[in-house]
Amino acid sequence: MTPKEALDLARKVGEYVKKEVSKIIGSTECGITVGIGKDGTPTKRIDMVAEKTALEILREFDVTVITEESGVVGTGDIVVSLDPIDGTFNAIKGIPFYSISLCFSKSYYFRDTFCGYVLNLATGDEYYSINGSSYKNGSVIHVSDTDDPNKANVLFYYPSKPYPFKRIRILGSASLEVCYTADGTFDAFIDNRFKGGKGFLRPFDVCSALFIAKNAGAKITDHRGNDLDNKKLTMDERYTLVVSNPKLHEKLLKVIL
Ligand code: IPD
Ligand code: CA
Repeated sequence: MTPKEALDLARKVGEYVKKEVSKIIGSTECGITVGIGKDGTPTKRIDMVAEKTALEILREFDVTVITEESGVVGTGDIVVSLDPIDGTFNAIKGIPFYSISLCFSKSYYFRDTFCGYVLNLATGDEYYSINGSSYKNGSVIHVSDTDDPNKANVLFYYPSKPYPFKRIRILGSASLEVCYTADGTFDAFIDNRFKGGKGFLRPFDVCSALFIAKNAGAKITDHRGNDLDNKKLTMDERYTLVVSNPKLHEKLLKVIL
């Protein structure tokens, strides 16, 4: 599968999921709990509808899908990390900030990713990265050049003490928030939630957006500054993150210590 073929497949999945989700968005049934996903969190009807639609398409291809609700599906050589809905709370509440994301890798490792795709299912804004460049709605994107933490607009899960940043926001869909850092809308995305030796973010929450951010010029590490080369796309992997332009990144690590 070439990067362009992966992008075409992601776009098809995004289009169908957007169509199906729009039929139930805003209804009370959309937020009903219908089970517990393989990730151990409750599956809402909207998650189920989105995943079922995505898998119907992906099953026709020689891929292994690692997805939030059903776990591992298929046995193909290409690994697809899928979050059918990232930002389920927003979707249920009608806040137009929720997405589908698909990350295509040649292995179970993030470092072998060759296509990342994130679609805002409410607005239709599309982010993707192939062949070393990243795009929003067809235009090349790049991280900001702000290098002063005092001037930085930061997405942060979760501020636990006063920080010197200009602004802190939490928007509720990590994949879209990392894309907002990739295109310079925000200067940084930080997630330093850490419990029992692990971060909180699951691979499908952020991998596609991380690939987009990386190819938009971001430095991406965990909250201690380690690179993500050995991070996996598997169900039990967890991520902490610091994502920003390289000049700001060093300073952020010191500030959040
Ligand atoms: C959640 C969102 C949210 C982040 C959570 C994720 P979900 O994903 O990305 O922004 O704070 O850690 O679980 O559950 O809506 O797919
Ligand atoms: Ca999800």
